[in-house]
Amino acid sequence: MKVACLGGGPAGLYFAISMKLRDAAHDIVVYERNRPDDTFGWGVVLSDETLANLSANDPGSAEAIRQHFAYWDDIAVHYRGQRIVSTGHGFCGIGRKQLLILLQQRARELGVKLRFETEIESAAEFAKTHDLVIASDGLNSKIRNELAPCFRPDTDVRKCKFVWLGTHQKFDDAFTFIFEETEHGWIWAHAYQFDSDTATFIIECSEATWDKFGFAAMTNDESIATCERIFAKYLGGRGLMSNAGHLRGSGWLNFPRVLCERWSHENIVLMGDAAATAHFSIGSGTKLAMESAVAMADYLHSESSMQAAFRKYEDARRSEVLRLQSAARNSLEWFENIERYLHLDPVQFNYSLLTRSQRISHENLRLRDKAWLEGAEAWFQRRADSNSPNVRRPMFAPFRLRDMTLKNRIVVSPMAQYKAVDGCPTDWHLVHYGERAKGGAGLVCIEMTCVSPEGRITPGCTGLYAPGHEAAWKRIADFVHTETDAKICCQLGHSGAKGSTQLGWEEMDAPLRQGNWPVLSASEIPWSPCNQRPKAMDRADMDRVRDQFVAATRMADRAGFDMLELHCAHGYLLSSFITPLSNTRTDDYGGSLANRMRYPLEVFHAVRRVWPAGKPISVRISANDWVGEEGIEPEDAVEIARMLQEAGVDICNVSAGQTSIRARPVYGRMFQTPFSDRIRNEAGMATMAVGNIYEPDHVNSILMAGRADLVCLARPHLADPYWTLHAAAKLGDRGESWPAPYHQGRDQLYRLAESAGTMATSV
Ligand SMILES: Cc1cc2nc3c(=O)[nH]c(=O)nc-3n(C[C@H](O)[C@H](O)[C@H](O)COP(=O)(O)OP(=O)(O)OC[C@H]3O[C@@H](n4cnc5c(N)ncnc54)[C@H](O)[C@@H]3O)c2cc1C
Ligand SMILES: Cc1cc2nc3c(=O)[nH]c(=O)nc-3n(C[C@H](O)[C@H](O)[C@H](O)COP(=O)(O)O)c2cc1C
Repeated sequence: MKVACLGGGPAGLYFAISMKLRDAAHDIVVYERNRPDDTFGWGVVLSDETLANLSANDPGSAEAIRQHFAYWDDIAVHYRGQRIVSTGHGFCGIGRKQLLILLQQRARELGVKLRFETEIESAAEFAKTHDLVIASDGLNSKIRNELAPCFRPDTDVRKCKFVWLGTHQKFDDAFTFIFEETEHGWIWAHAYQFDSDTATFIIECSEATWDKFGFAAMTNDESIATCERIFAKYLGGRGLMSNAGHLRGSGWLNFPRVLCERWSHENIVLMGDAAATAHFSIGSGTKLAMESAVAMADYLHSESSMQAAFRKYEDARRSEVLRLQSAARNSLEWFENIERYLHLDPVQFNYSLLTRSQRISHENLRLRDKAWLEGAEAWFQRRADSNSPNVRRPMFAPFRLRDMTLKNRIVVSPMAQYKAVDGCPTDWHLVHYGERAKGGAGLVCIEMTCVSPEGRITPGCTGLYAPGHEAAWKRIADFVHTETDAKICCQLGHSGAKGSTQLGWEEMDAPLRQGNWPVLSASEIPWSPCNQRPKAMDRADMDRVRDQFVAATRMADRAGFDMLELHCAHGYLLSSFITPLSNTRTDDYGGSLANRMRYPLEVFHAVRRVWPAGKPISVRISANDWVGEEGIEPEDAVEIARMLQEAGVDICNVSAGQTSIRARPVYGRMFQTPFSDRIRNEAGMATMAVGNIYEPDHVNSILMAGRADLVCLARPHLADPYWTLHAAAKLGDRGESWPAPYHQGRDQLYRLAESAGTMATSV
């Protein structure tokens, strides 16, 4: 096969090598604009895992690379006068120039022709004269731009400014992050050794800080002098160096995230940075480039035709690229939003930094550095005023709100059961909530319980508007308090425009087939074209419903609930005021966010006045309507939380969506947790996170990184009322209390968990 690789970076060279290894008869030329030994950039990082992949492809070049590696296991973080070190991270660095020289040597050895100082302007001629053309011309690929209508690239230029420098100062004991506060804001460095006397020193900051320093107007030398001054105390008198002479001005850039819709066109294939980029903070660009080169070479030899190989290449590599780009996005967003985390204690800041890409879980950190993680866990327990003599995972730390202390951080999220009769909870509810309280969660939140018959969502919804309701709930709360050490929270709500609809397992949110009742909302906007047109509430309606909330609150107190939650989420009545999608009022209750919050806050204040001072109140909100800027977006949710906090709300339960049939949620593991993170760390308010959180590992990492104070699990508690006790048994935590009649079952479970653990470590 006659092949041209346009661009002699890691992608082009390693593809040429991989092809020759599979068939020495291939005729391959690599074209490169630079000379063999001039290159921008300093060192690159590769992980142990990547090196193992390279070894499997070509042991010779992998060994040559390995011999030039600088290894380090530690990550050191300089922050607020402390240097915190954790270990077990297993990275290696190599000079980019060294890597390219090794790859060039290996390519020559295998008979690849290398044509340096050759600028390529177009792929067209090559496509005619070669069987295959690899567009490996990097981030600013001319070939990708030439064929942009075919490849359809999407480029997302990110917010931070960065510059890639080098230094002879030693950073040979750890990959080092340095966070410095300056007169113009925070600026930070990612530093790592890559040969015996040189380290990479990437400096990054927000655009605002960069502007204030005036970097835009500086020459390269002035910019370096400024950076040397900022980081002087870490440089030990050594200077910073640039080799980005090819870049104009001071060498600072914004990172562009590139992803192409198509990776091949006729016989031209994109590879490496030309096809997709991954932010340098997860150090995966070279890995992606080289692993894609191996995959393409493989498929060209395993598939029946070149087009079939291209299809397989795109299918297989795209998912890997998306996975890494998603981790890279989490990581770069952490740096972009760093202001949010700069109030954190150094221990928590460090944890948040290490887990920023969400690829490293809590238990994975334990495998890397048990002592460090246990130190962090002990810090968490101390902060939680735990009196446990043992180090325990964050999920088992107590949490206090007003006079209520929860034994742990797990909440049974409110879940409608649709089993009430005329609003009255039944034996179903006693058994259902009783079981979940026995199951170990610190807090059991009951389903949305409605303040009036018309305020119910469905005929099966529970209420607190009749004396019988109060007595039935009291029976449940008494059981929880007598038989367990869980607390119980009453979620109060009014259905609004989503009321008078069918049971959850029938046609959800659709009007009743018969017996509908009139519904209210902020404005006359039906939930969907099939639902009733609600009446827009007038002042009398607002007073009446507010008073119904107050009456229900009094009943909840007498029934013995420990905590109250106002349901202001998911498109129900109070939520319908908050989101502009359902509130088009022109009075004091519509328009600005402050106006749209007015009625929910009036209800909150009225309820707070009659709810005992020692008992907390939470408010559940939808932090994202998932319709873009027309609806509530996460930054609005921060404002909402600030208003709630100012009003005296103790904790914000951060849910999202269900406010419009137009919503297009982006689902995924812990997909709503970023909203809780943002509220907790920007508004400084206690939060509960919820949404597709199902592993103890998720819970522990959310809590330890300071992304929420409590974690709600809904569906996992439908599947397993004993989720918390089972998690504790599996994790080897023996501090959770089981009901006395179940002790023999507990002991057996512990023994089984221990022998499973021993077997797992012995195989
Ligand atoms: C600050 C920073 C730090 C990074 N750190 C890491 C890291 O730690 N680990 C990691 O894995 N990755 C890192 N990367 C990313 C990494 O450098 C790239 O992802 C990797 O080099 C991609 O390889 P490539 O062959 O696709 O592209 P490149 O390495 O960019 O190679 C493309 C080659 O094509 C040549 N070329 C371009 N246009 C033409 C033309 N018209 N004619 C002829 N030749 C041309 C270029 O000169 C270049 O040699 C970092 C990137 C940045 C910006
Ligand atoms: C059957 C069911 C009923 C629900 N009912 C309520 C409810 O009454 N009040 C409420 O705020 N959320 C309700 N939710 C939403 C959950 O509390 C939770 O926010 C959502 O299910 C996401 O959490 P998960 O991924 O752990 O299930 C309900 C969820 C389910 C599955």
